[in-house]
Amino acid sequence: MKKASVLIIGSGIAALKLAKEIRSGINVIIITKSSLKDGNSNLAQGGIAAAVGPTDHPSTHGADTMKAGGFHNNPDVVRTITKEAPKLICGLVNEGCPFDRDEQGEIVLGMEGAHTKKRIVHGGGDATGATLMEHFVANLPDNVTVFENMFAYELIIDSAIGKCTGAKAKDVNGKVVCFFAKHVVVATGGCGQLYTHTSNAHSVTGDGIALAYRAGAELTDMEFIQFHPTLLYIDGQTRGLISEAVRGEGGRLVDDTGRPIMNGVHPLGDLAPRHIVAQTIYHHLRESNPVFLDVSYVGSFSKRFPTVASLCEKNGVNWHDGIPVAPGSHFLMGGIKTDLIGRTNVSGLYAIGEAASTGFHGANRLASNSLLEGLFMGKSLAEWVQANPFKEEAFLDAKPKKKFVRPPEGLPKKQDIQRSMMDHVGIARTERGLQKHIYWLENARIRQWLAASLDDLKTEEIERVFMGITAWLVADSALKRTESRGGHFRLDFPCENNHVWTGKRIIQCRKRMG
Ligand code: SIN
Repeated sequence: MKKASVLIIGSGIAALKLAKEIRSGINVIIITKSSLKDGNSNLAQGGIAAAVGPTDHPSTHGADTMKAGGFHNNPDVVRTITKEAPKLICGLVNEGCPFDRDEQGEIVLGMEGAHTKKRIVHGGGDATGATLMEHFVANLPDNVTVFENMFAYELIIDSAIGKCTGAKAKDVNGKVVCFFAKHVVVATGGCGQLYTHTSNAHSVTGDGIALAYRAGAELTDMEFIQFHPTLLYIDGQTRGLISEAVRGEGGRLVDDTGRPIMNGVHPLGDLAPRHIVAQTIYHHLRESNPVFLDVSYVGSFSKRFPTVASLCEKNGVNWHDGIPVAPGSHFLMGGIKTDLIGRTNVSGLYAIGEAASTGFHGANRLASNSLLEGLFMGKSLAEWVQANPFKEEAFLDAKPKKKFVRPPEGLPKKQDIQRSMMDHVGIARTERGLQKHIYWLENARIRQWLAASLDDLKTEEIERVFMGITAWLVADSALKRTESRGGHFRLDFPCENNHVWTGKRIIQCRKRMG
């Protein structure tokens, strides 16, 4: 058994910012499913959006965020985070974070889709996530203890006081370790691996969403999944992200005759909001027309985009001839419902980063707003934790107080979940497809797992349980939203319907454990 003031599950930017900001004297434990740097933050290419340019203003950044988000965003949240963005960048600069600069030493700002100004602060060319992770890992304070290869599989809820008091986890040998804390933070990222084609790291399987849902936390906006338009696409397989910043520097999407495919589709052309570009590429590919990213107008391509250039090289693609691309799942706008401190409806339980849904992104996230939100939420929760100092409390016994439902037999395979999500809950959805997918999961008795004990399962099996639960939640939300908006596109309801869909749907598990 291990104890801390703050237990952080996950190790991306939001988690590390939180850990770094908590002052010495407050014990922090980070548990992470694989290694500290393995995750989506490390893979992030584009950068951090912030209105730091001379002609830019947070209100313009906010307006772009709202428009890209289909006005489904919480305007107060958008105002607060975009206003704070320049200060967060300034803080990182003062700490020595090595952002890219021009010959005069000024920070270089990049351009990405749906932004009306150049405002993307980046590092290492197109390796911003890795640059930030390097910075945070190097600056982790002594009061932080990290447990790698520690898979959290159950939140411990003291039902007598209705509080989350810790988490149960399994180490590499399958041994159960209980962690207790005053503040328990889910920072496990989204669920990109629910799909066959994804930009996400292998570890991003929706664990935190399922963990929190099983523990009674409210979720919202689960139907809003962002597909990134451009993943490298070879022989029917996607092989990694091609940053949107490439189009920001002049890259154009063309068909195999060299005709630009975004002409006449949207006034912003290749820099239209992601869902528009992803849907356009999707329709081309469905007609068996390949799509390429023409980078002939991008100056010093391999210098500006070393990560993309090396990805192409590794996969035998000569970028001078155009880069073959296809869309893939990239970001979950929905997730565990929180306020701007990261508080959920369950006392003692917090969520930050992609696992959380604060209302910042609306129905479709604006490019480079995710690292920004992670930084903001890490700082915000750190301030809250320090204002609510840890008092020595009686730690509770990890043993379940109720008898759990016995685990059902059999579990869907990972690849089958991914294929079904891609086919039926992907870029273009229909009632029939969504129902088929839900029926398949329910037939596999996925709902039984909401209250079943996971103690005797291997971590690989628990991951499949979490994938199944999260896949079911996304599909169920997508079925219920009978309109199209941002990352949720229904072929049978292709328009926004502001009469019926004014607010958010909140879902909560009724048949939960604990
Ligand atoms: C990209 O570089 O295209 C991804 C950045 C983001 O998702 O915001």
